[in-house]
Amino acid sequence: MSYQIAVLAGDGIGPEVMAQARKVLAAAEQRFELNIEYSEYDIGGIAIDNHGCPLPKETLAGCEAADAILFGSVGGPKWEGLPPDSQPERGALLPLRAHFGLFCNLRPAKLHEGLEHLSPLRADISARGFDLVCVRELTGGIYFGKPKGRQGEGEAEEAFDTMRYSRKEIRRIATIAFETARGRRGKVTSVDKANVLACSVLWREVVEEVAKEFPDVTLEHIYIDNATMQLLRRPDEFDVMLCSNLFGDIISDEIAMLTGSMGLLSSASMNESGFGLYEPAGGSAPDIAGKGVANPIAQILSAALMLRHSLKQEDAAAAIERAVGKALSEGFLTGELATDAAAAKTTAEMGDFIAKAVAEGI
Ligand code: NAD
Ligand code: IPM
Ligand code: MN
Repeated sequence: MSYQIAVLAGDGIGPEVMAQARKVLAAAEQRFELNIEYSEYDIGGIAIDNHGCPLPKETLAGCEAADAILFGSVGGPKWEGLPPDSQPERGALLPLRAHFGLFCNLRPAKLHEGLEHLSPLRADISARGFDLVCVRELTGGIYFGKPKGRQGEGEAEEAFDTMRYSRKEIRRIATIAFETARGRRGKVTSVDKANVLACSVLWREVVEEVAKEFPDVTLEHIYIDNATMQLLRRPDEFDVMLCSNLFGDIISDEIAMLTGSMGLLSSASMNESGFGLYEPAGGSAPDIAGKGVANPIAQILSAALMLRHSLKQEDAAAAIERAVGKALSEGFLTGELATDAAAAKTTAEMGDFIAKAVAEGI
């Protein structure tokens, strides 16, 4: 099979970690006899600098022509002073998600063997481990609801966002959560704020309806504030966390850090036809960009998700995941994880190690 991938490395650490994902993909292509062609396009801040807008027409056309998008990260201090809709996040990433209807966001997080002592969890809690997936609605809710904006002047000036969900939007993401749970430990925890928000009351109602179609899956509801706390107390009790757009964003960073680092959390954003954008859940990390120390694993695992979900190459995806597991269990760690700074590996060393493990057939 031959595939066409649009590569959007973006800003900050994006190009550094993308280069490692490309090495690992090259190893997987060779081992599994895949034929993948890559086309690189500017996105975000670099696109503003080179083309005057965060999502140039050529970039969008390249994505439309591709089988999947491999995305790095966008944004950074250089572009924060621009009008909000011209900034990398609101001018490129969110429009891409909307344009392709990428409503289904999967963010799998597990505590890797060997990293228990590097999680900020208390030792007795991390000893139990955890393995969960955040299923986040990605094209609705308060991110996209209208009206959104500012009005008035002086002290009377106000800003407003609208949280809005239709039954249809809730039903399709809830269905994904239940299907996902079926392939795992059979439990969905739906995260909401039904004691306050009208959207959450509808969310619960629709999730209950969908649950009837999945009698083999257990459903629990939890308020977002309690969820952030329970994740610290008993993360092993979660299997699939079903979240609206904003709550899923917040949960994402928490589950990433519980695994030890923001640089470990991968993300798949897909539409109804299986087309997807694959990106690390973290950002452009301006504080470490350009130093060659960023952890490329989130980008590499996102490439594995691309192989699994859009390219249907399960064997190659699983091989990459095993290679990542090998690095972590052997204590081959980048700086933000390594307890001994002198032993910390660089971004490129991590990419080389994982690519080699894939090539050698772990
Ligand atoms: P961030 O995720 O970029 O960084 C948060 C912290 O995590 C930083 O200390 C950073 O060094 C660390 N970190 C993140 N990824 C890492 C990695 N791979 N290896 C090691 N450490 C890592 O979040 P932020 O600082 O809030 O945002 C920075 C910029 O990125 C902002 O402009 C933000 O809007 C943007 N952003 C973009 C995306 C995206 O493109 N998908 C996602 C989140 C944030
Ligand atoms: C993420 C990011 C984005 C989001 C930002 C950069 C728009 O934080 O993918 O988690 O909020 O969805
Ligand atoms: Mn986020």
